[in-house]
Amino acid sequence: MKILGIETSCDETSVAIVEDGTKIISHVLATSLEIQQQYGGIVPEVASRKQAEYMIPVLHEAIKKRGLTIDEIDAIGVTVGPGLMGSLMVGLETAKTLSYIWQKPLIPVNHLIGHIYSGWLDSNATIPPQFPLMAVVASGGHTDVVLMHDHGQIELLGATRDDAIGEAFDKVARLLDLPYPGGPQIEKLAQQGDPRAFDFPRPLLHSQDIEFSYSGLKTAVLYETKKIDTLTDQIRADLAASFQQAAFETLVIKTMQAAKRFDITSLLLTGGVAANQYLKSMFISYAQKEIPHVQLYTPPLSLATDNATYIAAAAYFTQKASLDPKINEQQLAELEPNPSLLVTDQL
Ligand code: KG4
Ligand code: ZN
Repeated sequence: MKILGIETSCDETSVAIVEDGTKIISHVLATSLEIQQQYGGIVPEVASRKQAEYMIPVLHEAIKKRGLTIDEIDAIGVTVGPGLMGSLMVGLETAKTLSYIWQKPLIPVNHLIGHIYSGWLDSNATIPPQFPLMAVVASGGHTDVVLMHDHGQIELLGATRDDAIGEAFDKVARLLDLPYPGGPQIEKLAQQGDPRAFDFPRPLLHSQDIEFSYSGLKTAVLYETKKIDTLTDQIRADLAASFQQAAFETLVIKTMQAAKRFDITSLLLTGGVAANQYLKSMFISYAQKEIPHVQLYTPPLSLATDNATYIAAAAYFTQKASLDPKINEQQLAELEPNPSLLVTDQL
């Protein structure tokens, strides 16, 4: 079964065709990132205007230029939230229109659940993820640890109490005069720095829950920068490395504690922050020591950051919720974006 996925929750316009939830047939992604960088962050209206402009060329390239025909597509999967209202609207309205014109079912997808399905697309994995699966979704908007008992059966074990981990990277990057998005910039700068140079706090590291807090850590970096007269390149690198170390230690150590507490078979790390190689190697080395019996999934960069391949995969595995335009025309028309969906919200 081939599903056409559409993802427009933030600044990307991405269309993919995925077979049986596991095989990527075609994937095209356009981003307005270069324009957003001039503003130092995402300007929602700029993002959605660009998405409206890119949508048709991206669709065209994903289908026609790959020699595919519309007849080969069985259903459409689309992100309905969480994300930016205007951005979600562009993708969702496109998907609804295609569903109606092509008379193909539409499958609404929760973006956060979508991230988890990057685990099923990773061609480096020898077997697909098995349940019970624990997933860490570390992105610009969320830091969630979830337990999946089966497709569609998701329990939230814990989340951040304040800033998301990716948001903290973006804010600290701004303090260090690095461009948006901050994550990749901090990772690069940190390679030249000493992760023990500054002793930043590890909030909630010893709390018994599976919750995180990143706003105090960001503030600690701010106070440190204020104390320093001249931010030399070496000091900036040391700040980046020490911040990164503190942020990842809490994420990894608390995830390992949670993994031991539940009888899981697979553990998956995903979301934009999971593109970070330092995090990936820390995650793997802790897991090998602490939970050697658990199968690990750390999808590659191209699958970890926002894209439509995992939306199509999630749509395949959760297709019970599909809206068939032949019978549900009215429901299809009324489907709206939801910018504040939670990871546990089923559609
Ligand atoms: O999942 P994603 O692409 O979009 C959201 O759904 O939020 O995540 C974007 C976030 C941004 O905060 C960005 O700074 C962060 O992921 N990020 C990284 C890295 N690459 C992207 N954070 C740390 N290290 C990276 N290499
Ligand atoms: Zn995302």
